[in-house]
Amino acid sequence: MKDVPNHLAIIMDGNGRWAKKRFLPRSAGHKAGVETIRKIVKECKKLGIKHLTLYAFSTENWKRPQKEVETLMTLLVTYLKKEVKELHENNVKITTIGDISKFPNVCIKELNNAYELTKNNTGINLNLALNYGSRNDIKNAIKCIIEDIRLENIDIENIDESLISNYLSTKNLPDPDLIIRTSGEQRLSNFLLWEGAYTEFYFTDVNWPEFDEKELKKAIDTYQNRERRFGGVK
Ligand code: FPP
Repeated sequence: MKDVPNHLAIIMDGNGRWAKKRFLPRSAGHKAGVETIRKIVKECKKLGIKHLTLYAFSTENWKRPQKEVETLMTLLVTYLKKEVKELHENNVKITTIGDISKFPNVCIKELNNAYELTKNNTGINLNLALNYGSRNDIKNAIKCIIEDIRLENIDIENIDESLISNYLSTKNLPDPDLIIRTSGEQRLSNFLLWEGAYTEFYFTDVNWPEFDEKELKKAIDTYQNRERRFGGVK
C-alpha cells in the first residue's frame, strides 16, 4: 500500500451544473459545494493528508456575473465565521494563496482572523486558493526576483528552480502529489502550473456537490496505483 498524497489539490468544479440539473439557482450549487468542503476536509485529515489546497476563486472568476461573485464572497465569509472555531479545535491550519487584497474587507478580516487563530496548528493545512491564478503568481515572482537583483539581494547566477519556487505564493507548500478535478472537465485552468510539473491528475465526472468520501477514496486508490518516476526509470 503506497502513501496517501502529502499534498492534495482540488479543482472544485460543477456546482452550477449540479444546480441546473435540479432546476435550482447556481447559488444553491455553491452552497451545496460548501457542504462538500466540510466533508472532504474532515476525511482528508482522517486519511493523514498534510496539505489540502482548494481552488475556490480564480483570477478569471471575476468575469462571472457580479451577483455570483458576491454570492461566493458571502459564502466564504459565512464558511469562515461558522467553521473556523471547529477547524481550530481540530488542529487545522488555514492558509491562502492568491491576492486577497481585491476581496471585500469583511472577507479579509475573517481570513486574517483565521490565519491568526490557526497559525500554530499542526494537523492538516487547509490552503484556500483565492483570487489565485498561476500565471499571475509567476508574473509576481518574476517582478520580485528582478527587484531583488536590482537591490543586489541576489545575483542572476543564484537563480535556480528552488529559488523560483521560493518566490511563489506556494513557497511554504510541497508540490502537489495529486490534483483532482470534478465535473468531467479535463484541464488545469491556471492552477499550480509550476508546482504541478510532476503531479498526478485524477478527473471524475462527478460534480463537486456530489463528491464525497467514497469518490475521494477512488481518487486516492487510483493515485496509489500510479507509478511516479519523476522523469527517471523504475
Ligand atoms: C465551480 O463550480 C466552483 C467554483 C468556481 C467556486 C467554488 C466555491 C465554493 C464551493 C464556495 C466558496 C468557497 C469557500 C472556500 C467557502 P462552477 O460554478 O464552475 O460550476 P459549473 O462549471 O457547473 O458552472
